[in-house]
Amino acid sequence: MQVWTAVVVSLCVTWRLVGAEDFPSLITANGSIAVVLDRQFLGEQYQLVLDQVKDWVRELARVELKHGGVVVHYYSWTTISLKKGFIAVFSIASCQDTWTLFSRTEEEELLLFALTEADCPRLPSDAAITVSYMEPGHELPQILLDLRTTKAFHWKSAVILHDDTLNRDMVSRVVQSLTSQIDDEDVPAISVTVFKMKHEINEYLRRKEMHRVLSKLPTRYIGNNFVAIVTSDVMSTMAETVRDLGMSHTQAQWLYIVSDTNTHTGNLTSLINALHEGENLAYMYNITDDHPDCKNGLICYCQEVLKAFVSALDAAVQEELEVAGQVSDEEWEAIKPSKLQRRNMLLKHMQQHISVNSRCGNCSSWRALAADTWGATYRAFTEDTAISGRKKDADNDTTSGVIEQIELLQVGTWRPVDGVRYHDALFPHVEHGFRGKPLPIITYHNPPWTFLHTNESGTIVSYSGLIFDIIDQLSKIKNFTAKILLPGNVKHDFSNDTVDSMQSESALATLSAVARGQAALAAAAFTILSDPMPGINYTVPVSTQPYCFMIARPRELSRALLFMLPFTTDTWLCLGFAVILMGPTLYIIHRLSPYYEAMGVTPQGGLSTIHNCLWYIYGALLQQGGMYLPRADSGRLVVGTWWLVVLVVVTTYSGNLVAFLTFPKQEQPVTTVAELVGQRGTFTWSIRKGSYLESELKNSDEQKYVTLLKGAELLTSSPEIGLAGSGARVLHRVRTQRHALVDWKLRLSYLMREDHLRTDTCDFSLSAEEFMAEQVALIVPSGSPYLSVINKEIMRMHKAGLIAKWLSAYLPKKDRCWKSSAVAQEADNHTVNLSDMQGSFFVLFLGFFIASSVLLLEWLYKRHKKKSEEIVIKPYVE
Ligand SMILES: *[C@@H]1O[C@H](CO)[C@@H](O)[C@H](O)[C@H]1NC(C)=O
Ligand SMILES: *[C@@H]1O[C@H](CO)[C@@H](O)[C@H](O)[C@H]1NC(C)=O
Ligand SMILES: *[C@@H]1O[C@H](CO)[C@@H](O)[C@H](O)[C@H]1NC(C)=O
Ligand SMILES: *[C@@H]1O[C@H](CO)[C@@H](O)[C@H](O)[C@H]1NC(C)=O
Ligand SMILES: *[C@@H]1O[C@H](CO)[C@@H](O)[C@H](O)[C@H]1NC(C)=O
Ligand SMILES: *[C@@H]1O[C@H](CO)[C@@H](O)[C@H](O)[C@H]1NC(C)=O
Ligand SMILES: *[C@@H]1O[C@H](CO)[C@@H](O)[C@H](O)[C@H]1NC(C)=O
Ligand SMILES: *[C@@H]1O[C@H](CO)[C@@H](O)[C@H](O)[C@H]1NC(C)=O
Ligand SMILES: *[C@@H]1O[C@H](CO)[C@@H](O)[C@H](O)[C@H]1NC(C)=O
Ligand SMILES: *[C@@H]1O[C@H](CO)[C@@H](O)[C@H](O)[C@H]1NC(C)=O
Repeated sequence: MQVWTAVVVSLCVTWRLVGAEDFPSLITANGSIAVVLDRQFLGEQYQLVLDQVKDWVRELARVELKHGGVVVHYYSWTTISLKKGFIAVFSIASCQDTWTLFSRTEEEELLLFALTEADCPRLPSDAAITVSYMEPGHELPQILLDLRTTKAFHWKSAVILHDDTLNRDMVSRVVQSLTSQIDDEDVPAISVTVFKMKHEINEYLRRKEMHRVLSKLPTRYIGNNFVAIVTSDVMSTMAETVRDLGMSHTQAQWLYIVSDTNTHTGNLTSLINALHEGENLAYMYNITDDHPDCKNGLICYCQEVLKAFVSALDAAVQEELEVAGQVSDEEWEAIKPSKLQRRNMLLKHMQQHISVNSRCGNCSSWRALAADTWGATYRAFTEDTAISGRKKDADNDTTSGVIEQIELLQVGTWRPVDGVRYHDALFPHVEHGFRGKPLPIITYHNPPWTFLHTNESGTIVSYSGLIFDIIDQLSKIKNFTAKILLPGNVKHDFSNDTVDSMQSESALATLSAVARGQAALAAAAFTILSDPMPGINYTVPVSTQPYCFMIARPRELSRALLFMLPFTTDTWLCLGFAVILMGPTLYIIHRLSPYYEAMGVTPQGGLSTIHNCLWYIYGALLQQGGMYLPRADSGRLVVGTWWLVVLVVVTTYSGNLVAFLTFPKQEQPVTTVAELVGQRGTFTWSIRKGSYLESELKNSDEQKYVTLLKGAELLTSSPEIGLAGSGARVLHRVRTQRHALVDWKLRLSYLMREDHLRTDTCDFSLSAEEFMAEQVALIVPSGSPYLSVINKEIMRMHKAGLIAKWLSAYLPKKDRCWKSSAVAQEADNHTVNLSDMQGSFFVLFLGFFIASSVLLLEWLYKRHKKKSEEIVIKPYVE
């Protein structure tokens, strides 16, 4: 059975419960603290530690505590009752007991400051203080554990590379410190792969061994986060090998832990020369001091934290006294600190005290360095005004301070008493990207990708366009400032929104500047070619631009002959023949019928001549009645069936006529490449010379593309927006002659929009078929370490739909020309107008004309007849 002893130091304990709060103010009651010294954990040391602590507390209360007093309760086990109004608990216990105790002090909102064993995750620093006590030389696992719990790295997996300097016991403790489960769910366990390298004294053998191990690492599966626990000379060999193998890049993180240094030999400055742009490197190295004055030991830690506590308590009492002195009792009741506030105040004060005054074990400390590599080598170029084409005033402007080399950042120190103290992130580039450094970015005016805006005096004042939206986003995410350069020695023309050709002067100058490595990135859209210019690399495509062609909008067909439209020509012919044949048929049947003879009726007038029969049939077709109908059934049957035919024909005709009135007919549109090349005789077309399309067509062996290229006229100057020069000529041809312009859909829609705004007509339409998509991307210098970083971000922007959204802002607005470019349009309520009716008037005139002609003929006939009669009757006179 456990026995606990409680020693009451101060006898003057007055309990006064104030208000509803269940804890006394420090003015009215002396603070009381529980000191838990776990007898099991301390073992034989227990009595010694207890005596020392008691003496020390007494001493402190006498010397350090100037205001009030402190009541100390001692316990020898951790499962104590915390309900007694303590303000803090001090414990020396095992890791597990400490955490159990912590969960209970958390409930009671008490301050816990604990001294515990090594390899114990520290308690949350916003609620407790943890001091890890360990023998010097065994701190490595604790360091890794502290790095992990303070979230110095956000790793899911790690590869540990070590040599013989780490013994087996230590290896398992290191692994344990990374893989153990911790109550804090923000700190997940890391899956660890361990590789051991033989420690070779011989430099050559060491290199070989290292190469052997490293080159076989399946980094795809085990990740790119490495912890190398090595001696300092192995480290430099390893760093070289790693670079040779291309394993040190922007996506990899290397933490070198160097234990064989000390405060005198630990100088890693020489590493700088070997650092490369784009690496993520951090070093943790031993700066242990073997000074004889170094203090260490359990008692030392006890005294230090207790002293810190007493100092904090003193400050708290003093502050409460001061405040209480200035206000009335009632007010004090209202404003006095709550339990949590008091705990936080004590905690902050103690942490401050420890970080400034702690001496115990501070000899065995370690230092963390990080290599500030990202964007370092571009600093020289951001300074280079030669390619910017802009004059910089003198050499003393903002950029001159920027020329720096790669540097090593002091990111933190570690010591046993309070773990890692950070001045910066352990992997600054993983946390902060380029850390706000300027990156030279070269660009030129190339709508709609980039727009350079100038003010009246010709100075560029702002940049916009899809590419700059992407750059802005990149710079926000990767924390750099874009330093815009313009390709030198090129005449810039920003006045007109020209959709520039890819091979312009500016584009070539930009390409060569990037290839020379003068810019980290070119902010312009470049077509991804299969044989790129050497010295550059494309990013993933920013956008895909399909080609299509533009033709004049199909016009409505003339409606003059609308009345003819319901029937096809053969129908009309058949109908004509039917009318012509039915007349004689009726006549013959009528005449041959014996009915009239039998009945003794003389067939009179009407149908007794072929001429009349014809007119009758024609009249019946137009649903006009005749005076005479056959009386014989045979004849009536002929007429009756004709009426049936007429019924069908007329109904069909009127129905169809209405339909044709409602849906005006249009020219057959040309919507695909196959249709275009199929109409080679009627259509001509042109493509831009030297464009991506031309080269793609040359490589294609598809028949229609071969024909397309063969029949194409090559335009030397692009039909730019602005419609100047030859551009306008091409547009005119498209509008009036049967000409098709083949280009980017984007560019053509700009042209259409421009033309629509100018003329307020919709004269053009785009083909429905899109072909030969051209991909555009940004470019970086070949071998740039940031290609993968930029690619990753662009992909994310694509996935989030950002790029599509941004691009749509620069596309021509949809206007009325957009809808139904080539598709027949339905007129919802069409009122019949003169153009629809003109055909019938023509027929009327035609009829009148024919009638007049026939009248003339009739007159002539009569004259002729009269004359011949006169001749016949003329008496012979001689
Ligand atoms: C607090 O302790 C001091 C000395 O330890 C004593 O003089 C004082 O009376 C105590 N105050 C209260 C309120 O108990
Ligand atoms: C740190 O350096 C000191 C002195 O050189 C050495 O005693 C100690 O063992 C080193 N620590 C580790 C973890 O190797
Ligand atoms: C480290 O060595 C470099 C020269 O190699 C020296 O300039 C620098 O002062 C040294 N740093 C320390 C902290 O000793
Ligand atoms: C350790 O304490 C000494 C003594 O004041 C101090 O000079 C030194 O900077 C401390 N070391 C660390 C790493 O805090
Ligand atoms: C550059 O700056 C330094 C100090 O900042 C100053 O002494 C010097 O005159 C400046 N030079 C010019 C050309 O402005
Ligand atoms: C950018 O870098 C600076 C310098 O390291 C840093 O202070 C800042 O927090 C970083 N910003 C972001 C958003 O990471
Ligand atoms: C154009 O901008 C430049 C640089 O900001 C400025 O010096 C110049 O006065 C501006 N010109 C006009 C006409 O606003
Ligand atoms: C720019 O547009 C203006 C009219 O808008 C025109 O006069 C000028 O020639 C154009 N410049 C170029 C280089 O096309
Ligand atoms: C970058 O370009 C070089 C040649 O210019 C090529 O060998 C290399 O594969 C490219 N890198 C990538 C990631 O495409
Ligand atoms: C029909 O025409 C009238 C008058 O022109 C117009 O107000 C109405 O919107 C049209 N209806 C449809 C469906 O287009």
